[in-house]
Amino acid sequence: MGQNLANLRGMTEGTLALVTGATGWLGSHLASELAAMGWRVRATGRGARPDSLGPDIDFRRADLVEDHLGSLFEGVSHLFHLAGASSTRFSVEEMSLINAVGTERVARCAADGGVQRMLHMSTTAVYGEKTALPSPVIETVPLSPSRDYGKTKVAAENAARKVSAETGLELVILRPVSVYGPGNTKLVASAMLDVALEKAAGAQALMVGSSFEDLRLVHLDDVVGACIHLARTEGIAGRAFNITSGIYPTSLELAKAIAGAFGMAVEVGGDWEGPLSYTQREAMVERLKVEYPGSANMVFTPERLRFLRRPNVNNVLSIEALTECGFRPTHTDLGETISDTLDWYVKAGWLPN
Ligand SMILES: NC(=O)c1ccc[n+]([C@@H]2O[C@H](COP(=O)([O-])OP(=O)(O)OC[C@H]3O[C@@H](n4cnc5c(N)ncnc54)[C@H](OP(=O)(O)O)[C@@H]3O)[C@@H](O)[C@H]2O)c1
Repeated sequence: MGQNLANLRGMTEGTLALVTGATGWLGSHLASELAAMGWRVRATGRGARPDSLGPDIDFRRADLVEDHLGSLFEGVSHLFHLAGASSTRFSVEEMSLINAVGTERVARCAADGGVQRMLHMSTTAVYGEKTALPSPVIETVPLSPSRDYGKTKVAAENAARKVSAETGLELVILRPVSVYGPGNTKLVASAMLDVALEKAAGAQALMVGSSFEDLRLVHLDDVVGACIHLARTEGIAGRAFNITSGIYPTSLELAKAIAGAFGMAVEVGGDWEGPLSYTQREAMVERLKVEYPGSANMVFTPERLRFLRRPNVNNVLSIEALTECGFRPTHTDLGETISDTLDWYVKAGWLPN
């Protein structure tokens, strides 16, 4: 646990947190951390109760778009709305329903139920990746999402803001960049899966192309810590906060951190397509699942090392708003955190080392 989380312990009197998206990656970690800090926690998701949630967490299954939600909110002081949908698993229509319609329904129920504050989990995809904004990007710029995911998350922010303006519900918005860490299944996790496949195929070095992107990342623990910090900070209602680690590795640096964790070197100037064809990678991932069933949780991308190849003209984001209100990300050593993340995958039986 980082210093930020340790500082927040013992501030939980009279609180009941409701965490949506608690069957998902970030939500399940947030629910467990809140409970570990002594908060009373109610958690909800569409699927079954995750094994990782302790017995003290009151888990209730609900579809935020379809179901009647009123009783979920009884006695809740703080809502952490993390349920959401991205393009990895959902169509545009589904993203629109879950992100925009689901958020509006949740915010209305929160306002009707007397919730003090809603922490809404948005994303920096709301800024878009194609039209250059003044750098570093601050939270108050006009939003210009370029992809469907970002567009539906803007609609979600707008829905929450509308309910807040109509009802007085305190709203705080958190906008993380790509999150990585133990249990992650997408983005950086997909790149780590690709490297694991090549190592299993006997490669000594990770081959990368010769042009690199600037990337931005944030660790799971920093996102969880920021959620809890912002839920309890006075005087910030109505504001949005970016969160990144504050460092901007190039794709070469991230490739080196991942390869290094697997004990491999990096070879620059090769082919981004790498030594294995798509069909070979696909066959290897099926074989990996037999010995390491947990690897089935990790998203296999048709494009090798896809995360390392995604350009974004709005890469650099200001986190001054967040640091000024007392929260600073602490997971800033990429080599160390990627290596710790691989250790988690190995111990959990998701990947060989
Ligand atoms: N992961 C990242 O890198 C990242 C970066 C920036 C922002 N975010 C935002 O952070 C939030 C959580 O992300 P994550 O990576 O933890 O996603 P995740 O693992 O895919 O979890 C999404 C959660 O939303 C729930 N959900 C979806 N549709 C629902 C519905 N109709 N009713 C009730 N629950 C529903 C899912 O429930 P079931 O699985 O049970 O259906 C799951 O618990 C999202 O809002 C995402 O936009 C994530």
